Amino acid sequence: MVVSLYRTRLSSTVANMPTMNKYDVLIVGSGAAGMSLALQLPKGLSVAVLSKSQLGSGSTFWAQGGMAAVLHDRDSVQAHVEDTLNAGAGLCHQPAVEFTVGRSRQIVDWLVTQGMHFDLREDQSDDEFREFHLTMEGGHSHRRVIHAADQTGRALSEVLASRVSEASNISLLTDRCLVDVIKSGSRVCGAYLLNTHDGSVDTVNASAVVLATGGASKAYRYTTNPDGASGDGIAAAWRAGCRVANLEFNQFHPTCLFHPRSKSFLMTEALRGEGATLTLADGDRFMARFDERMELAPRDIVARAIDYEMKRLGAECVYLDISHRSGDFIQRHFPQAYERCLSLGIDITATAIPVVPAAHYTCGGVVVDQYGATDVPGLYVVGESACTGLHGANRMASNSLLECFVYAQSAAEHIAQTIEATSVTPDPWDDSRVRDSDEEVVIQHNWQELRRLMWDYVGIVRTSRRLDNAAARIALLEREVSGYYARFQITKPLLEMRNLARVAHLMVECAIGRQESRGLHYNSDFPNARPVGKDSVLVPAHFDEYNALSGPVDTLPAYST
Ligand code: FAD
Ligand code: SIN
Repeated sequence: MVVSLYRTRLSSTVANMPTMNKYDVLIVGSGAAGMSLALQLPKGLSVAVLSKSQLGSGSTFWAQGGMAAVLHDRDSVQAHVEDTLNAGAGLCHQPAVEFTVGRSRQIVDWLVTQGMHFDLREDQSDDEFREFHLTMEGGHSHRRVIHAADQTGRALSEVLASRVSEASNISLLTDRCLVDVIKSGSRVCGAYLLNTHDGSVDTVNASAVVLATGGASKAYRYTTNPDGASGDGIAAAWRAGCRVANLEFNQFHPTCLFHPRSKSFLMTEALRGEGATLTLADGDRFMARFDERMELAPRDIVARAIDYEMKRLGAECVYLDISHRSGDFIQRHFPQAYERCLSLGIDITATAIPVVPAAHYTCGGVVVDQYGATDVPGLYVVGESACTGLHGANRMASNSLLECFVYAQSAAEHIAQTIEATSVTPDPWDDSRVRDSDEEVVIQHNWQELRRLMWDYVGIVRTSRRLDNAAARIALLEREVSGYYARFQITKPLLEMRNLARVAHLMVECAIGRQESRGLHYNSDFPNARPVGKDSVLVPAHFDEYNALSGPVDTLPAYST
């Protein structure tokens, strides 16, 4: 029997058939990017915002340090732009950086009008205008990170969720998992959504579809990300025909709590911004040997230094020490870090915290222009799933939330100006040729195997041989998962595994293609950077399903001024 790898004919449509749901704009993802975009669309448009589990299930909820913005008189847009370009190791697109940073103050104002409370400076009297408290993080030349203690993401998520749930034009659909976007000809006209409660698949018709599904750090065994970070939007956009870029730049956060009872809990970089030091077990402050900025060097440098020292000494972890600050200061600025560590028997006001690097952020993603528009008309990608050119080869701390809000705003404006009502009705989901799975163990096994091999072969330090081995193994896993997808009823784990395998494959192809070391990509067979940095752009039409990339490499879009 011949089984199609694609369960449905993604590009075909049937006119005048009733659909279950129809919206002007379907937004897949309820993080900073998805919810803020929904709120900035005209109230006359009907909008659905989806989450594959609960509303706060993405990375946004867990963001700690804060959002970078130019707010202090002594700071400047130019300084923030320069810091971002330096951190990005020669691969940032300057127009994207200027576009993003130039809008930072306006984004803060918008968030405040939505009801967001950022921390204020404590050293001012109540009767004068109170300034925001700004913290410091790696790569920044000024204090410019605005925050809500060390739970900025939670505060942002709560404010946005409450505004979204009050909006009469926005429907919130939780526990709905995107299967694929649907196209009519070259244009997007909707999406298939798995209802994870009852296993049914809804066909949704929409004039514009926005993917705001976050990153793919779940491709790694150890990560700071929540479980859903499986690159679903990146994989779906790729299947729909969009280019992806710079996926080899996986950011490893240097300081994730190392404890047998803690599931990957981030120790915010703001701790180092407020003076925390990194030491080895014997108290040696090793960063002095790697960079004159010490603990506040950009993340790629700090994570690589930790990795080097751990491998050199066979150590399980290094130590992050803030105990020289007063107990009162630590508990006011880092209440979450304090409580979490204390619950594990670590009093951070008195002792150093054991930490290790962990996968944290996907710098590359779907190629988009300044409006979040992709290669497929009607399909937008915003937030961590997108590659805007802002981050280059290494994202500077706290630039991600800013990027989410800036591009959500410009995408909302673009959609408002260009949206056209769709007159086509997509085919309903066809699962007449599939049956219930009796082999769930296959998915579990593949999931673990993929994440282990990405950690071991495509980690902080890479070699060409390990990358080639990873590519071969991922191709086998992907083939197995595709066969499984074609034969069995879909489930959320199956969809996530299918997406993660595809994105891991794309990451490895980008990494193999980059025969140099730059930013977050370090290949010890090519330890130096080439004189001029180029993006790694993969084009679906030129990609052989299970083999390496072939065909021309394109550049990221230019910005109009
Ligand atoms: P997310 O917030 O990840 O949201 C993704 C959404 O998409 C979720 O609602 C999810 O349910 C939904 N989704 C995914 N797949 C599907 C699917 N198939 N179907 C339906 N829905 C789907 N950045 C900073 O700038 N400052 C910080 O201080 C900071 N701290 C961080 C701390 C941690 C622990 C982590 C993990 C990240 C941190 N980051 C920080 C990075 C930043 O939080 C994220 O990059 C950003 O929040 C991503 O937002 P997003 O809207 O793109 O996606
Ligand atoms: C952190 O608080 O350390 C995370 C900041 C970021 O990822 O930008």
